[in-house]
Parts: sequence; structure tokens; C-alpha cells
Amino acid sequence: MTTIPVNTPSGSYPIYLRENGLRDAGDLLRERGFSGKCAIVTNPTVGQHYADPLVETLRAAGFSPVVCEIPDGETHKTLATVAGLYDRFLAAGMERTSPIIALGGGVTGDITGFAAATYLRGAPFVQIPTSLLAMVDASVGGKTGVDLPQGKNLVGAFKQPEMVLIDPDVLSTLPGAEFRSGMAEVLKHGIIANETLFESLQSGNFSLLWMLEEAVRVKVDVVQSDPFERGRRAVLNLGHTFGHAFEKLANFELRHGDAVAIGMVCAAQLAVELGHCAADTAARIIHAIEFLDLPTAIPAHDPEIVWQTMTTDKKKAGGIIRFILPRAIGDVDVFDDVPETVVKSILEQ
Ligand SMILES: NC(=O)c1ccc[n+]([C@@H]2O[C@H](COP(=O)([O-])OP(=O)(O)OC[C@H]3O[C@@H](n4cnc5c(N)ncnc54)[C@H](O)[C@@H]3O)[C@@H](O)[C@H]2O)c1
Repeated sequence: MTTIPVNTPSGSYPIYLRENGLRDAGDLLRERGFSGKCAIVTNPTVGQHYADPLVETLRAAGFSPVVCEIPDGETHKTLATVAGLYDRFLAAGMERTSPIIALGGGVTGDITGFAAATYLRGAPFVQIPTSLLAMVDASVGGKTGVDLPQGKNLVGAFKQPEMVLIDPDVLSTLPGAEFRSGMAEVLKHGIIANETLFESLQSGNFSLLWMLEEAVRVKVDVVQSDPFERGRRAVLNLGHTFGHAFEKLANFELRHGDAVAIGMVCAAQLAVELGHCAADTAARIIHAIEFLDLPTAIPAHDPEIVWQTMTTDKKKAGGIIRFILPRAIGDVDVFDDVPETVVKSILEQ
């Protein structure tokens, strides 16, 4: 088993990475000092496979778990779903010391974390991520929240978990398209800060556990250096400035990982155009994206419309569109001064 400690302004917590780790969840939670009632928040898709084994290990460790089911899908990442959870927690007699466990992908983690941050002014939160994206990205860093009709992730809280348990075996039931989409974020972490990870993804010569650990460590390093997203953490948005715009313009019918992959192609080409990275580096990035069976073709939207869509993204700082651009594999930077004309020239290609 690998344990990665994460330091936060409010203390530290472990990320446990272990094969078959789900069955150890009860013992690990007890070792963290918890006991008594706890809630498992999951959806039917994930719950059908993993809720019973989790209940079993928690009972064996002396807990009294209650399973709270929420519907599957981003459309249910709402305040209404959170309100439904408060009802369930109250009915089960959950107290301020009772752990609330997210068992699912990023959607479940974000909803559950927000419910845990606000129920009785904050109850202990545990993440058991089951999608690749949630393992390497969403479960680490303390950002939780829900969507509003006006946009994604507009309400939320920073809520650090008590522990994160990553069991790679649960990925066996994750649909292939979801896995592929998650690989875009793994590759992103390689480009941001880990050339060995980047290279290995194309060699196929690595274990799933190793890949998860390398990708998680990149996220941990970044969030530790900027827990409240005031600076360096922006690098995690590599590929997202363009990607969010493509997602929006496709009415979210473009998968997030696919949009990020195309966004990374744009970022690489923009970096070359601005003289921040070598053409060879961009070619390596594009080749890696293709290798992972992710799309590289820039959607044929009017560049002006893409630009306008980017300016309405909530991640822009002070009206400036912020681009994360590679300088080399494993080295990216934040740029606030990219001329509109150059961005549009990339979109025209
Ligand atoms: N908090 C953060 O820092 C952060 C970072 C990145 C993304 N996010 C959020 O994460 C969400 C996307 O997460 P996601 O890609 O995991 O989507 P998701 O949670 O919707 O999961 C994708 C699908 O896979 C299913 N699934 C998950 N694990 C499974 C498994 N082991 N077996 C079978 N099916 C499984 C889910 O039920 C769902 O149908 C978005 O809402 C995004 O905003 C949050």
C-alpha cells in the first residue's frame, strides 16, 4: 500500500492507494479515530457493485452505516440533491462527528463533500473515488460543490477530507469511454509536472497503481502549494480554457476528457505560436493524445464565438482570459497576456 500525505491549512490527511483497498475501508476509518454512525453516499450505477462490500467492511469494523442513494449524472449535481441528503442524514441520526463517505465518481464526490461541509456546520468527509477522473483529480484538493442553472460549480466550499481511499480494482466496472476520458487528466498531469509519467503512458510499460500514484502526486503537489486556488493551482486548468468553451458550444455533448484533450492541442499550438515552447514539444503532446485514443481535431466553430464563450468562463481573472501553456513536457506556466488575434489564429487552423 502507498500512503500519500496531503498537508492543508486545516491539518493533513492521507490518500491511501491500495489494491483491493475497499475491503479495508472500515479498519482505515477506525484507525483515523472514527466510530459509530456513518453515511455512504452513492448512486445506483456504482452502488450496485460496491455499496454492499463497503457496508460489510464498515460493519465489521464496528460502524453503523446507512446508504444514501442519489441519482446518477451531472444534471443531479444540484442543491435539491444536497437537500435530500440533509433529510437522510437527519433521519439516520447522523451527528457532527459521524463520517460522510462519498462512494462514486467526481459528481458524487462534489455533492457529498458539499453536503458534509454544510451539514451541522461541517461533518467529517471521506472520499472513495471510483472513476479515474475522481481518483486523479476530483477527490484531491478539497473543492466541493454543485451546479446552478446559470452554470457549473457555482456554489461550493473548500472541504478537506479526513481520508481518501483509492482502490484501482473498482475501475474494472468503469465504462471504457469514462476511463479514456479520465486518461486526458492523467496525461494533463504528466504535461504539467511529470515527464516520466507522460512518456510511460505511451510505452504501456507501467502498472495502473503506479500511474495513479504518479498522477495523484502531481495534483497533491500543486494543491499543497496553493490550497485556495489563488495562484499556482491554475496550472491544473491546462486544456480547460479552450476545453470548457468547446464543451459549452457542444451543449455538453462533448465528453469532458475529450474537450480537455482538444484544449491541450490548442494550448500546445498556442505556446508554439507565442514562442513559449518548441514545435517538437507540441508534436509530442498531440501524438500522446492520439495514442490515448482521444480527439485532436479542433471543432469548426467561428473563432469569435469561441473567444466570446471563453470570456464568460468563471475562471477568467479580472476579465482577462487566462491560458495555461506548456514550456516543455513537465513544465507549464500561466499567461494572462495572450493576444486575441493569436488565439483566434489557432482556432482557424
Ligand atoms: N472537485 C474537484 O476538484 C473536481 C475536479 C475535476 C472534476 N470535478 C467534477 O467531477 C465531475 C466529473 O466526474 P466524473 O468524470 O467522475 O463523472 P461521474 O461522477 O458522473 O462518473 C461518470 C460515470 O461513471 C459512473 N461510475 C463511476 N465510477 C464507476 C465505477 N467504478 N464503475 C461503474 N461506473 C462508474 C458514474 O456513476 C457516472 O455514470 C464533474 O462534475 C466535475 O465538475 C471536480
